[in-house]
Amino acid sequence: MDSSAWDERYAGTDLVWSVTPNVFVADRIAELPPARAVDLAAGEGRNAIWLASRGWEVTAVDFSTVGLDKGRRLAEHRETSGSLSWVTADATTWRSPEPVDLVVVAYLQLPAAERARAARAAFAALAPGGHLLWVAHDLTNLTEGTGGPQDPAVLMTADDVLADLAEEADAPGYRVLEADRVARRVPARPEDGHGEAPGLTAWDCLVHLERSA
Ligand SMILES: C[S@@+](CC[C@H](N)C(=O)[O-])C[C@H]1O[C@@H](n2cnc3c(N)ncnc32)[C@H](O)[C@@H]1O
Repeated sequence: MDSSAWDERYAGTDLVWSVTPNVFVADRIAELPPARAVDLAAGEGRNAIWLASRGWEVTAVDFSTVGLDKGRRLAEHRETSGSLSWVTADATTWRSPEPVDLVVVAYLQLPAAERARAARAAFAALAPGGHLLWVAHDLTNLTEGTGGPQDPAVLMTADDVLADLAEEADAPGYRVLEADRVARRVPARPEDGHGEAPGLTAWDCLVHLERSA
């Protein structure tokens, strides 16, 4: 989907995504001391707003201005001890104007070549000791999970994301803290055609790494 298709998707008044942060973002980042962060492909900003509520100085980047505007409006009603700024940019060409201590990329589902460019841009933004947390719909979600894009070309595994970063010839080093497939419980909603089951499993891939100091 290009930016205008995303703008259209975000055009309604209802939120497309939840108000609450992604469960893995909340869990993996909870213990990090607040500093400078980028939420790349931030959408309506649920993760960016949560980070700012915990004291992070956050830049939310997305190529959908309509999505970011919704995030900005949502943030106006929130208590934040940190700060938020909103930047319209393409994740595959975006360059951070300054090094940051955390980059979160959640559910940026792009074909392989574009995904690799976004992954490298995310990593390049990190200050020494900075963390990258990448969460996305896993390739196996197609056959074993529920929801998410149904086009395998935009699905991935944690190994794919690590390979994207490894291809960067002169990349500085990093320590992989976690690279795995992770289960996310989602409520079954009859209106989604999932029947009356009490809950379903979506499979995500998660890469959490720390740039070498
Ligand atoms: C599934 S949404 C996830 C939003 C948010 N990260 C979250 O977890 O709520 C994917 C987002 O990626 C954005 N996106 C897709 N391709 C992009 C690109 N090339 N550059 C910047 N944003 C992009 C879309 O506009 C959309 O907001």
